[in-house]
Amino acid sequence: MRATRAIYQWLDRRLRLKPVEEMLLNEPIPGGASWVYVFGSATLFLFCLQLLTGMFLAVYYAPTPDHAYDSIQFIMSSVAFGAFVRGLHHWGASAMVLAIGLHMLQVYLYGAYKPPREAMWMVGVALFILTLGFAFSGYLLPWDQKAYWATQVGINMVGTIPWIGGDLARIIRGGETLGALTLTRFFALHVLFLPLTTLGLIALHLFILRRIGPAGSFEEKRAAGLSVPKERRHRTASEPFYPRQVFMDAVVMGGVFLIVAVLAAFLPFPLADKADPSDTSFKPIPEWYFLFYYQGLKYVRGPFEPLATWILPAVFYAVLMFLPFIDRSPARHPARRPKAILIGAAFLLGVFGLMAISLQEIYSIPTTDPSVVRGRELYSKLQCNGCHRIHGSGGAVGPDLSYVGKVRDRDWLVRHFDDPSAVVPGSIMPRLAVSPAERDDLTNYMLSLN
Ligand code: HEC
Repeated sequence: MRATRAIYQWLDRRLRLKPVEEMLLNEPIPGGASWVYVFGSATLFLFCLQLLTGMFLAVYYAPTPDHAYDSIQFIMSSVAFGAFVRGLHHWGASAMVLAIGLHMLQVYLYGAYKPPREAMWMVGVALFILTLGFAFSGYLLPWDQKAYWATQVGINMVGTIPWIGGDLARIIRGGETLGALTLTRFFALHVLFLPLTTLGLIALHLFILRRIGPAGSFEEKRAAGLSVPKERRHRTASEPFYPRQVFMDAVVMGGVFLIVAVLAAFLPFPLADKADPSDTSFKPIPEWYFLFYYQGLKYVRGPFEPLATWILPAVFYAVLMFLPFIDRSPARHPARRPKAILIGAAFLLGVFGLMAISLQEIYSIPTTDPSVVRGRELYSKLQCNGCHRIHGSGGAVGPDLSYVGKVRDRDWLVRHFDDPSAVVPGSIMPRLAVSPAERDDLTNYMLSLN
């Protein structure tokens, strides 16, 4: 204790830390500290986690089509803590999208984007867009089938923008086809352009926060510390950032890290097969946070497609960015902003509704056909998932079977089950030791996967 004090005093005499300490810790929070305000620091914490884990992944990762996939496999199988660090990076990305979403939701509910905090909000929206940019560019880097075809879909959507779409898509791809140039481009974006821009904007976001102060409670009386009994005023009126808010932020950061670490340790994120540009039958499924959008795309076909591929997203980002200038009512209390709250609720309902439908479509199997159900039971009884993956779960020794019903017909499957190496020379898949009826059930299950 005395030693730390001595060190602090030594540093203080050289760096004049006192004013810095005061500035960092004594920032007043109108209305007092609250668990509701933790999402911003949780997002910042996750960003730092991504930086750290990303730096370690970059030690082994090779951004070329020939080596990217193998380098990730090497990280997963041979590098000490490699699978864990990749897991942290993967789940950390999901957690960061969630945290920034909750942070924005809180700011929206509390009307904290209103004057004089328009600039802070706009920088925040830019940070949100950068976060999605991280997610999109990072997804390609493992160069597996999912990565390749999901990126293909994303870039094709950019291509539908009138006038500039074609050129924009070519710039993103680095040419006419998705290949080596695309991968290095996405890598540079993911590890240099985006992180540096993000760091700059985070600094700006926090600078504005420190200049203008946090919005705090939407209860004006509470925020001003009026009509509050004197003995409770230290908690309800303005309260400094330290110690209570710092404590709450730290607890949440610790909790977030624990959750991400547990996911990384016990729920590894498997690679699909190596990207195969000629296999156009592969249907990628996006990450959960893009699922609602993926589902929405299914409903707009033909002339309405641009609506979903770029018109609605463009309108969404524009409205989000200029929200403080569109919603001009000065009220901050949710009860006095029924329109804003209703619109927000409708939006969330739409997003989660589409997400639920999408999850159901992906994971539900046709349970009407009893043969398919028996086949599915056999599949797990015979432990096919030790070598094969279906929608993300299972091993990666054999090919992903999520859509095998689309690429193989009954005749092929039966011949293959009877003797895999006769159909695919050199196959290591074991021959099926089952009755013909069971083989047909298994075949029917395979055909239902499409
Ligand atoms: C020891 C690992 C292993 C096990 C266990 C295994 N497979 Fe395979 N499977 C493979 C490999 C490797 C291939 C790729 C070579 C081939 O097509 O034979 C494959 C290919 C396949 C294919 C063809 C996919 C395609 O489109 O080319 C099907 C279908 C299949 N397996 C189904 C099954 C089923 C059903 C089971 C469980 C009864 C099973 N596998 C068990 C390793 C395995």
